[in-house]
Amino acid sequence: MTILIVGASGATGRHLVNHLLERGHHVKAVVRTPNNLPDFLKNRERLTIIEASILDLANEEMARHVSDCDAVASCLGHNMTMKGIYGQPRKLVTEATSRLCNAVKANNPQHVTRFVLMNTTGNRNRDLQEPISFAQKCVIGLLRLLLPPHVDNEHAADYLRISIGQTDHMIEWAAVRPDGLVDEDEVTKYDIHPSPIRSAIFNAGKISRINVAHFMADLITDDKLWEKWKGQMPVIYNQESNPKM
Ligand SMILES: NC(=O)c1ccc[n+]([C@@H]2O[C@H](COP(=O)([O-])OP(=O)(O)OC[C@H]3O[C@@H](n4cnc5c(N)ncnc54)[C@H](OP(=O)(O)O)[C@@H]3O)[C@@H](O)[C@H]2O)c1
Repeated sequence: MTILIVGASGATGRHLVNHLLERGHHVKAVVRTPNNLPDFLKNRERLTIIEASILDLANEEMARHVSDCDAVASCLGHNMTMKGIYGQPRKLVTEATSRLCNAVKANNPQHVTRFVLMNTTGNRNRDLQEPISFAQKCVIGLLRLLLPPHVDNEHAADYLRISIGQTDHMIEWAAVRPDGLVDEDEVTKYDIHPSPIRSAIFNAGKISRINVAHFMADLITDDKLWEKWKGQMPVIYNQESNPKM
């Protein structure tokens, strides 16, 4: 397969690039600067680096980049600096998601393209009954007011859920929702659920970025897994962080 990845230089994106290369796939990584790529991604076979800030690409350029791709994945996130959180582009993830989907459609592909979005357990899947406590509702309301990246994550998933929906002929999607992200060097056991099994605000679990990337790579490359999770927002936790069920 050929997969285009945005946010490829990020702490999760770099693992996704690596997992896919190790499985023998071709990866096109969009990065603002190759200097932000780790050493383990330098001079790799089957890796094409596209040096660009994703939203600066013209529509035609984007369409050209995705034209030979079987899947597109986003591990974009706002840098945790004042400029990253409160500066422009405030709708980084949403705009990248919608423009990449438009780029896929502009090519009128004869096959379905998979779109995998890295999202968050702080966001609810409104297609499902996902009740949260009054206290959590209040905190999420505050996050919406105070943290533009949270709203961006919500809108990006809403774009896939509502604008692409469940019956699109060109794009199928999944929005992966990690709980509290941590860094680990090795893939460990993890659990996937259709909805959160603990409070993202008051009792967050852990998930390592390398595991999130592993699951995203599985979704992209494993047809059976894709059939199970397409059109959904699977939640991922490290196995050890969950109470025994
Ligand atoms: N922190 C948590 O516990 C948590 C939990 C659940 C979900 N999440 C979500 O997970 C996602 C990714 O997390 P992460 O830790 O892997 O992210 P990260 O390491 O901060 O990576 C972010 C990526 O986005 C790129 N980026 C940032 N601003 C950009 C811009 N203006 N234009 C183009 N590219 C830009 C970065 O590129 P550069 O290398 O060029 O900066 C980098 O590749 C985020 O959406 C976050 O909200 C976080």
